[in-house]
Amino acid sequence: MKLKILVGTMTSTAEYVAQAIQMDCSDLVADIDVQLMDNLDISAFDEDALYLICTSTYGSGDVPDNARALYDSLDTAPKYLGHVRYGVIALGDRTYMQTFCFGGKKFDERLQGLGAQRVGEVWCHDASSGTLAETEGTAWCREWLAQALAPAA
Ligand SMILES: Cc1cc2nc3c(=O)[nH]c(=O)nc-3n(C[C@H](O)[C@H](O)[C@H](O)COP(=O)(O)O)c2cc1C
Repeated sequence: MKLKILVGTMTSTAEYVAQAIQMDCSDLVADIDVQLMDNLDISAFDEDALYLICTSTYGSGDVPDNARALYDSLDTAPKYLGHVRYGVIALGDRTYMQTFCFGGKKFDERLQGLGAQRVGEVWCHDASSGTLAETEGTAWCREWLAQALAPAA
C-alpha cells in the first residue's frame, strides 16, 4: 500500500512533518510519497493509496494559499470519493481560539461530504504548546498507520 501525504503549508512546518513521517515510518509503509498541494485538484485522489492530509491554518481559519486550488476543487468539481481512506494532521495555534486547526478540519469536512472514509480522529497540533510538530506528528502517525493498515476484521 502506498501512503500519499498531501501538504498544505505557508512556512514549511507541515512539510517538515511530512518529511519526518516519510523517514520515520518507512518500516511500516514501503512507499511514502510527499506532495505539496500546489496546483493539485480533486484528481489527486484518483490513486490507489492511503491518503494523509497534512495542513496548517491561515488567515481567519483558512487553508494555506498552496492548498486553495485543491480545497476549492472539492467543492467546484465534486465527485464521489468513496474509495478514499484518509487521515488528517491539522497544524494550528490555540491563540486563534475560534479557528483552531480549521485548515485541516475544513479538508476533513469536504472529504467526508464526498463520501471519503476517515481513519481515526483528526490530529491537531498546537504551535503555542512548545512541542515539536515533527516529533509528535510522527508518533501519532505510527499509531494511525497501525490502525489504517490493520487487516479488516
Ligand atoms: C497570519 C497567521 C494566521 C494564522 N491563523 C491561524 C488560525 O486561524 N487558526 C489556527 O489554528 N492557527 C493559525 N495560525 C497558526 C499556524 O497554522 C501554525 O503556526 C502552523 O504550525 C504553521 O504551519 P506551516 O508552517 O506549515 O504553515 C496562523 C499563523 C499565522 C502566521
